[in-house]
Amino acid sequence: MWKPPERIKYAPEPGAWPTRIEAESSLWFSPIRIGPLTLTSRTWVPAMVPWRSNEEGWVTDDVLDWYEQFARGKPGGLVIEATGIRDIPSGPLLRIGHDRYIPGLKELAQTVRRASEGQTRLFIQCIDFLAIRRRPDPAKFLDRFLVVTDDIRAALGMEAADETAIRETLKAMPDAELDGVLDARQLESLRMGFRERVGDTHVPHIRDLPGVLPDLFADAAQRAQEAGIDGVELHYAHAYTMASFLSRTNDRDDGYGGSRENRVRLPLEAFARVREVVGADYPVGCRFLTEDIVDGGSGVPDSSFYAAEFARAGMDFLSLSRGGRFEDAKQPNIGEAAYPYTGRSGYECMPAYISDEFGPFGRNIEPGAAVRKAVRDAGFETPVIVTGGVHGFEKGERILQEGKADIVGIARQALADPDFFLKVRAGCGSEVRVCEYTNYCEGLDQKHKQVTCKLWDRKELDAPGVKRTLDGKRRTTAPAWAGPAA
Ligand SMILES: Cc1cc2nc3c(=O)[nH]c(=O)nc-3n(C[C@H](O)[C@H](O)[C@H](O)COP(=O)(O)O)c2cc1C
Ligand code: SF4
Repeated sequence: MWKPPERIKYAPEPGAWPTRIEAESSLWFSPIRIGPLTLTSRTWVPAMVPWRSNEEGWVTDDVLDWYEQFARGKPGGLVIEATGIRDIPSGPLLRIGHDRYIPGLKELAQTVRRASEGQTRLFIQCIDFLAIRRRPDPAKFLDRFLVVTDDIRAALGMEAADETAIRETLKAMPDAELDGVLDARQLESLRMGFRERVGDTHVPHIRDLPGVLPDLFADAAQRAQEAGIDGVELHYAHAYTMASFLSRTNDRDDGYGGSRENRVRLPLEAFARVREVVGADYPVGCRFLTEDIVDGGSGVPDSSFYAAEFARAGMDFLSLSRGGRFEDAKQPNIGEAAYPYTGRSGYECMPAYISDEFGPFGRNIEPGAAVRKAVRDAGFETPVIVTGGVHGFEKGERILQEGKADIVGIARQALADPDFFLKVRAGCGSEVRVCEYTNYCEGLDQKHKQVTCKLWDRKELDAPGVKRTLDGKRRTTAPAWAGPAA
């Protein structure tokens, strides 16, 4: 992952822990309404893909175990990882693109309800994404995948040559010289791997996205509702389709790109269709970016506008993230696909302990506060959820007390210790396994390996009932908390 050049190292700063009584009387542990639902507290575990599903996208026993551990910590809201809304092979990504997934998701909802003793409301993050290919072997790309165009012929001065001669010439050229021959997209396909964009309107299935996505999201939401999941989070963040519609980089010329009014149009149309299908009594919100953190991308003025529009349209909650885009991703190895969390925007999404003067903790709080203010200024009370670098009670509580967010989430801190909220609420904060923001977990995610935390994945490996990851070296879930130390 990209690191800020300052390379300043930070140790966790959880601050003082509250007594049980202080926790009970805090804002963080007080209830809040999300549309028609009440959360028992303003605590939240946002979506995290742990790669526990299988090639068919099922809710496996490992998926159940994974969410059971978070539910035992009794957060007010728990979001199931990014889950694919199309019925297409998607590797070991969880899926909701067909009715056959409903029984598994029902079992997941029941598991969370049971493990949290009814205290946690479960949401599912619904995602659509475009195609990305692995970085090709250069010779293979130039031999087979590159379409030889008149522009390439002209750049080589080989207008009359046959295709084989062109390909041989290109293969014999030093890589740097290809800059003068291939266009930016061809070079990207060669050096990073081909990646579809929402602006590729010359490609029929990309042009037709506004026609198909609202129904795909709506069908997925209806399945979530049927499965007894408490609400839906539309994934409008990071590197994926809807975030790319929202991004300032979206240059579609069909009324769905260009101005911010046009860029927000499809996300609003998808939400409207979802609402039509699930009804007014089912919580629906979205996750989106305060800032893209890439050249020419969206910033707080854009996200403030989107937030007010989402609130006006009747979304029940707005969950904020930042960065995590493909545009600045690191070049992958040949045979591997680019990963959107490897550049500076990826760092802003999941900041690690090696950082700059600001540090890795709470980088989205002020942008989030600005977005929340825009929602309030527009006359809406829609709850805003902020996440990023929170690993102690004081910080979470301060964000709420200062009115910078309505709900505060913890992602990696929950991974490090799924019992975080339970411990803090019981006045046992000193027993929390505090996240060190090493991004070991993120490294596993990047390789699509089962995600675990370095603070617990080798502990008590031989204890009864401990399940191991596919490589046999790590436990799949965190050791459960035995309750307050005597
Ligand atoms: C392993 C891992 C998987 C993640 N998967 C998702 C995801 O599926 N959807 C999403 O919106 N964010 C995802 N995130 C981002 C987190 O939800 C969160 O925004 C980010 O980690 C910053 O919060 P934190 O500092 O509390 O970890 C993931 C993060 C990690 C570490
Ligand atoms: S591996 Fe554990 S300690 Fe390191 S960042 Fe991930 S959750 Fe935190």
